[in-house]
Amino acid sequence: MGSGNLDNFEKNLALIEKRGLELISHAEDLQHLETLRVELFGKKGELTSLMKQLGQMSHEERPVAGQKANAIREALTKSYDARAVRLKQASITKQLETERVDVSLPAREVPQSFEHPVFRAQAEIISILRACGFVVEMGPEIESEWNNFDSLNFPPNHPSRTMQDTFYVSREEKLVLRTHTSPVQIRSMLRSKPPVRMICPGRVYRADYDHTHSPMFHQVEGLLVDEDVHMGDLKGILQYLVSEFFGSELKVRLRPSFFPFTEPSAEVDMQCCFCKGAGCRVCKSTGWIEIGGCGMVDPEVFKSVNYDIDKIRGFAFGMGIERMAMLKYSIEDLRSFYESDYRYFLQFPRWLV
Ligand code: PHE
Repeated sequence: MGSGNLDNFEKNLALIEKRGLELISHAEDLQHLETLRVELFGKKGELTSLMKQLGQMSHEERPVAGQKANAIREALTKSYDARAVRLKQASITKQLETERVDVSLPAREVPQSFEHPVFRAQAEIISILRACGFVVEMGPEIESEWNNFDSLNFPPNHPSRTMQDTFYVSREEKLVLRTHTSPVQIRSMLRSKPPVRMICPGRVYRADYDHTHSPMFHQVEGLLVDEDVHMGDLKGILQYLVSEFFGSELKVRLRPSFFPFTEPSAEVDMQCCFCKGAGCRVCKSTGWIEIGGCGMVDPEVFKSVNYDIDKIRGFAFGMGIERMAMLKYSIEDLRSFYESDYRYFLQFPRWLV
């Protein structure tokens, strides 16, 4: 092999070097760079195949050519390393850019827990009435017959006293599961002198079970006793409660009725919250929905707690909390409150504040 071989070899080397350095310095990303390495000076790359020619060279030429080839491999490797460092840097910078977290954004809200709709409604009713100056009182669920019936002017033979309606805990001790929250009125009046301004939320029990009645449900009672109280005050409070609770101008009306412990007595109706009084399926086309009972405290009740019936007047009201919750949250079946279906409560998240 003549010296022409060496010349040729060197020319080819120079071409590989020039092209290689050019390509490497423009490699777009690490993957592209790796492809170039394999093609240019990998085991089966251009440089390696060119070096196969070394075997055909003379003893004098071979070391010269070998050295040059090695120098070029080194030059390419160096340029490869340098480019790799830059591309790595660039890719990290790009990742930091695109995955940047804006720590000043408000955090996504996470519900703290889930609330039973009856308790949510109860809490709202309490907070509305507390803002009107009513104080929350509690009473026991096992109650004396006297507090639950006698003191409230129920005659001894009143039908609601029968076992079909009332759960008796002990006939001998005259203990019942309270059938309404009204006995807490008695407890409050026995405990303090007028004026009284109390509310009592809580569980009550009646021997009743179908799709609109549950043997246990919740009521909220209200009692206001003072010197100059009249039915207009009562209606004003009920109207305020309904407007605040439903957040709209639904009217309240009082319909004459009867309760042993109030005189006069009335049922509390509100305009249907679904049709705003126009008439729909829920209000059976009447435009009105009954939500509770109310009236002026009967003097017989004041007598049983030794209040001076010549000096004071009072009004009382009681309403079903399940009913209020069903209307506000559009819940159709009363039983869904007590079935403890976890998915149902997911609709009532309580947010961290
Ligand atoms: N206690 C009555 C009931 O359970 C409701 C009511 C309370 C009526 C206060 C008048 C006054 O039906």
